[in-house]
Amino acid sequence: MQTLIAGNWKMNGTKSSLEEIDQIVRGLDTATTETVEALICPPVIWLTDCVARCAGSSLKIGAQDCHEAEKGAHTGDISASMLHEAGASHVIIGHSERRQDHFETDPLIARKAKAAFTAGLIPIICIGESLKDRQAGKANTVVLSQLAASLPQMAPDAPFIIAYEPIWAIGTGLTPTLFEIQDMHAGIRAALSAQYGQRGAHIPLLYGGSMKPDNAADILGLEDINGGLIGGASLKARDFLAIYAEAA
Ligand code: 13P
Repeated sequence: MQTLIAGNWKMNGTKSSLEEIDQIVRGLDTATTETVEALICPPVIWLTDCVARCAGSSLKIGAQDCHEAEKGAHTGDISASMLHEAGASHVIIGHSERRQDHFETDPLIARKAKAAFTAGLIPIICIGESLKDRQAGKANTVVLSQLAASLPQMAPDAPFIIAYEPIWAIGTGLTPTLFEIQDMHAGIRAALSAQYGQRGAHIPLLYGGSMKPDNAADILGLEDINGGLIGGASLKARDFLAIYAEAA
């Protein structure tokens, strides 16, 4: 399985940040390995610019959300097929910030994920516990129940990715211990194997939450970790490429 190093720019950057994409493209020209894939999910307004800047590069471009419907009267929303047509390869679904800011629920996330792969995109489905859940010893139960309820009804071979992002580790500089990350990912892997059999072993699992160049090697070296979903450190080409290099 390839390792995926994915950047989520969230609602950050200005048009001049597109120079970071150029720098990543240049960096990957010399650093690309077949075992590691690189993806940046910019604000959707820059999606087509980013796709154009990546022509001929191994860098892929994704989106941060999509609507569950294929089209229709949904002012302000964007469908998965529009993202696909614009050149996106992946779409992040159910990020905790969308769960919080837009009250997204597990069943909605499952429907969005289905819309994504119906349109030809690979959904990156996010799950993760709050600090309160972790302190109460409920992290594994909460995450596994989110996983079960967020998985789409789909064709057996439809591709998708799971990102475990503990909410309290996002943008805080805090991370779970390596043991806690591995333990959670092993639980997620076991649940996927129980549901999908052999295929469960091949569904990529990303870790996200304060991943940086200086902790990436340790986290990416764990069993059952197939990459990272990186927020703050993906905004600077230098840091993103440094994390990529740790994975290579
Ligand atoms: P940070 O890397 O900034 O903690 O963000 C993680 C994240 O939310 C990626 O989706």
